[in-house]
Amino acid sequence: MSDGARHIERTFVMLKPDALERSLMGEILGRFERKGLKLVRLELRRVTKELAATHYAHLVDKPFYPELEAYITRGPVVACVWEGIDAIRVVRNLVGATDSILAAAGTIRGDFGVDKTENLVHASDSPESAAVEIRNFFNESTSTL
Ligand code: TYD
Repeated sequence: MSDGARHIERTFVMLKPDALERSLMGEILGRFERKGLKLVRLELRRVTKELAATHYAHLVDKPFYPELEAYITRGPVVACVWEGIDAIRVVRNLVGATDSILAAAGTIRGDFGVDKTENLVHASDSPESAAVEIRNFFNESTSTL
């Protein structure tokens, strides 16, 4: 039975400060490369408090937000866009569950993450959020590559 049409998608991925602090950038980007995804945009940058509040707008009222803000702004991140068949689902599967303690072995968070906050990677959860997040971080279309 078919599970629906498959589409070429683009998804936004951010390697969070702990990924760079722990020298896991090559390991994490390599997993996306080896899966066959195409890299269409990549930039080393800092997340300001303003960008954090935009990106995590759905979480700003949560009790853990101050901890999340301190974490995401404490050092450089790698913002990138990956393209491929069903890329949003494929990347979320590679990344694993939000809480690294519960994330399956073999996923990035399951293999390397510490807990719910220090979970190394952000990945878009829908085509709508991918479009918004790519715009928030790159402020332009990525359609040229
Ligand atoms: P969320 O969008 O729910 O998860 P995901 O990153 O898997 O899409 O949450 C965003 C980030 O917020 C999450 O990666 C880590 C942080 N977070 C906490 O620090 N504590 C929490 O209890 C939750 C739910 C999230």
